[in-house]
Amino acid sequence: MMTSVYRDMFALCATVLLSFISVSHSAPLSCEDLLRPLDQLEPGHLEGRWALVAGSLNHSPSLEVLKSRDSATIHFSNFNTNSTATYTRIVSSGGKCQYKTYNMSIEGSTFTLDVGNRFNLTGTFLHTSCPDCVVVRWDGELERQRSHLVSRRREVGPKEMEEYKAQLECLKLPPPVVMDPTKELCPEQTPSEPAAAQTGEKTEEQTA
Ligand SMILES: *[C@@H]1O[C@H](CO)[C@@H](O)[C@H](O)[C@H]1NC(C)=O
Ligand SMILES: *[C@@H]1O[C@H](CO)[C@@H](O)[C@H](O)[C@H]1NC(C)=O
Ligand SMILES: *[C@@H]1O[C@H](CO)[C@@H](O)[C@H](O)[C@H]1NC(C)=O
Repeated sequence: MMTSVYRDMFALCATVLLSFISVSHSAPLSCEDLLRPLDQLEPGHLEGRWALVAGSLNHSPSLEVLKSRDSATIHFSNFNTNSTATYTRIVSSGGKCQYKTYNMSIEGSTFTLDVGNRFNLTGTFLHTSCPDCVVVRWDGELERQRSHLVSRRREVGPKEMEEYKAQLECLKLPPPVVMDPTKELCPEQTPSEPAAAQTGEKTEEQTA
């Protein structure tokens, strides 16, 4: 009788202890950890197509543009030994696909898109625990900040989304706009197709 009570108490203590350990293991990471740039950029890992899973901006008109999109993808290609590559973003909106290609130069975990004579866009690849995701923090021109989470998948797991939300909080950005994973992605542009014309004047380059 007594032994069984002790055994039960022991089991209870062990359970409490174990759950305490697992809770302390998942204690929130500091912003310093969450916003750590990628240590090493592997072009082989980046190459190819990524679907936009979620994103955020601190500029409400651009946030509305993002919300109005059906889907978006980015493609990294043509990695060169001189740290250049090609960045293509493809957006599906209102039943149309819009393609835009930028020259990209890479330095460590930071990259710059050549968007013409007005300004360049700089982004940093942030560390993420999601193995098939890329998290980008864009440096804002005109105080505008934004971030994108792209993945080889169309949606990420709840823990991965929690991590991204925490990263956005550290960046002081609004909660993410999460893309609808059931919406079709635009096809990759074939070389024979002419580069799609920009639709109208935009106040800002849209990078995803
Ligand atoms: C990098 O190399 C590619 C191909 O070798 C070339 O087309 C491109 O102009 C080079 N870029 C720079 C910045 O040197
Ligand atoms: C990328 O750079 C190359 C060489 O500098 C240039 O010929 C090409 O037009 C550029 N492409 C874009 C999309 O800016
Ligand atoms: C943008 O980047 C390109 C290539 O790295 C550079 O030649 C150009 O001067 C930059 N433009 C601005 C406005 O910084």
